Amino acid sequence: MRGKSDHFLQCVMISSVLFVMVNGYRPVVIVHGLFDGPRQFIKLASFISKTHPGTKVITVDMYDDMNSLKPLWDQVNGFKKIIQPIMKNATDGIHLICFSQGGLVCRGIIATLPKHNVHSMIFLSSPLSGQYGVTSYMMHAFPKCIKQLVYQLCYNFLGQKISICNFWNDPHHRERYLKSNKYLALLNGEIEHPNLNEWREHFLGIKKLVLIGGPDDGVITPWQSSHFGFYNSNETVVEMKEQDWYLKDVFGLKTLDARGALVQCVFSDVKHILWHSNITVYENCIEKWLT
Ligand SMILES: *[C@@H]1O[C@H](CO)[C@@H](O)[C@H](O)[C@H]1NC(C)=O
Ligand SMILES: *[C@@H]1O[C@H](CO)[C@@H](O)[C@H](O)[C@H]1NC(C)=O
Ligand SMILES: *[C@@H]1O[C@H](CO)[C@@H](O)[C@H](O)[C@H]1NC(C)=O
Repeated sequence: MRGKSDHFLQCVMISSVLFVMVNGYRPVVIVHGLFDGPRQFIKLASFISKTHPGTKVITVDMYDDMNSLKPLWDQVNGFKKIIQPIMKNATDGIHLICFSQGGLVCRGIIATLPKHNVHSMIFLSSPLSGQYGVTSYMMHAFPKCIKQLVYQLCYNFLGQKISICNFWNDPHHRERYLKSNKYLALLNGEIEHPNLNEWREHFLGIKKLVLIGGPDDGVITPWQSSHFGFYNSNETVVEMKEQDWYLKDVFGLKTLDARGALVQCVFSDVKHILWHSNITVYENCIEKWLT
């Protein structure tokens, strides 16, 4: 008797293992940030392979390092060419993990892809409401700039050909931002445009929206930008739920939240460039969304 039921149990176990293997995990596509590339994500890829064996992890090798300064719409089009076929292949959808500036690239991709099948969209310390701070990391691009003056470089036709300027959000020069910004202000619906409804529909196609960031990031300024918060004209941080675009549900954020699709994780003591290699962050706020 005992032997028989053991045998049965073994069978069940084996078939469930087989089931998982056949069924598999959805592929994970990683989009890197400013001044980096696939090699910075080797550790994250190894975390995924360890916890979800057999997952296809693709870190897109494009616009690496200094090329990451190229305008974000160009990057969206480039990344799309790689990611779209991966989506087409994945009948059950894919997961996207997008780091820092890469998060803004991913937002552009999702907004403009009619048939995306992104299941979990994970933004890892991404300046979703923009950036207002010249931190050491950005000195490569703006060596002698103080934040009060960057708008002069960014808020014009030529400036918008630099990625950082596509999301530079100076709270003291709001009008010029709205007038000259060619990227973030469109995605966040801060200015009216004909694609807004369509982009909103596509954004609502996300099944799980995961926001990760924290106060010790040291690069994203204010760090709450990683959670859709931002400075007002006083440089006081206004949290996501008090933002106009949330209250008016301009690009779908409130609807996703109401649907229970929005997850927010805040971690202390994580420096910007260490988000993707921190096992605590992975285990607590990434792993479970990658099934
Ligand atoms: C799509 O799937 C086929 C068959 O598994 C594979 O050979 C091909 O490399 C895949 N293409 C992409 C872009 O993932
Ligand atoms: C700016 O800050 C002051 C003092 O902290 C506050 O009374 C005022 O309402 C703020 N203005 C805005 C636009 O938030
Ligand atoms: C990883 O994240 C945890 C959680 O916030 C933090 O306490 C720890 O210091 C981090 N480790 C590193 C190496 O950044």
